[in-house]
Amino acid sequence: MKTHDLLDLVCCPVTKAPLRIMTRQELRELNASIARGEARCADCGPVNETLDAGLAAEGGDGAYRVLDGVPILLPGLRIVKADSGTVRSAPGSPPGSSGVAKVWEVWGAKWNTILPPARPSAEDVTAFEQLVGGVCAEANESVPRAVLLGVTPEIARMRWPTGTRLLALDFSEVVIRHVWPRDVTPDGVAARADWRAMPVRDGVYDIVIGDGILLWQRYPEDFYALASEMRRVLKDDGALVVRLFAKPDKDDPIDAIFDDLRRGRIANAAAAHLRLGMALRRDLNSGTRLGDAYDVWHANVPDEAALLPSLGWPPESLGSFDLYRGLDTRVAFLTLAEVSDVLSEGFRLTECRVPTYDERGMFPTVVFRPKP
Ligand SMILES: C[S@@+](CC[C@H](N)C(=O)[O-])C[C@H]1O[C@@H](n2cnc3c(N)ncnc32)[C@H](O)[C@@H]1O
Repeated sequence: MKTHDLLDLVCCPVTKAPLRIMTRQELRELNASIARGEARCADCGPVNETLDAGLAAEGGDGAYRVLDGVPILLPGLRIVKADSGTVRSAPGSPPGSSGVAKVWEVWGAKWNTILPPARPSAEDVTAFEQLVGGVCAEANESVPRAVLLGVTPEIARMRWPTGTRLLALDFSEVVIRHVWPRDVTPDGVAARADWRAMPVRDGVYDIVIGDGILLWQRYPEDFYALASEMRRVLKDDGALVVRLFAKPDKDDPIDAIFDDLRRGRIANAAAAHLRLGMALRRDLNSGTRLGDAYDVWHANVPDEAALLPSLGWPPESLGSFDLYRGLDTRVAFLTLAEVSDVLSEGFRLTECRVPTYDERGMFPTVVFRPKP
């Protein structure tokens, strides 16, 4: 993507001022002040490493590092003068409950082993394409802009309306490095950013899109922060298009899950993780503790090595719950009605597509339109 396209898509996440590429002279000056210990991150201590490339916020104190072509547009990592009065910018902490960022680093590094339904199937991609196509055709926007929450390659690579400019935002450096398909997305750009404080101006995007994005947010605070941020960046005739990991309304007894597993009715480890995770939700506020998923899985499948190959699951499925052992980290599985309720201040649900692989309605792709 050309530089002016990038600068047209992003802004300072704190002040929303336009960003510009730092000149060599500006970089030299900033690097000299870093060497003198006169620069710090807004949210943490001194900046220790110099910058090869950076973006500066117009008209003020604040610069952002660009690392390997990826701008780091996190409020907490904004580089300011050490003596500047900039207050601690909230939110600066990693998203999700403690440990989510670590879980994502592990999954990011072995992304290729993750199977649908944890990532979009071909059918889900078709649903995304049709739903996005419908919204853009109605809006009649010649150069649609879309924000992808995360760097899901299936969404980045899907057939977008001609000329679409795509901005992909993810908190994790590891995930962007391993998962963002930068070679096949000439009209797209990825940045490190927090969805709760997007580096994006108000009301300029046609589409906000994502896959399984709500699962990793803390309920209720991050849900409401994200809902208002998504509404802020969308045009009034835009749309939020997301595939949900939605807990079914009807209870799913644990015994029924393991019965289905032994009968070969659960396609793979990802399907088992998600179904069990939904069934183990304690209540809306406390969500599902990942350590519980590990405990229940191993109590019911004491000999994975004997069972899983007989189900035709790939060898990398073995031990796939081990990452969650003893983890207090929580994830949030909401029902579709609960998601609609959280979003109800800014959005109304207008479409819902349930894929054919999904008997229980756990993976609908939905469209929420902004309320004016
Ligand atoms: C796109 S989501 C879901 C992907 C996949 N479909 C799944 O759920 O298993 C996962 C990504 O979201 C990112 N993420 C979660 N919350 C975020 C936030 N508030 N801001 C930026 N990135 C976030 C994580 O870093 C991770 O890379």
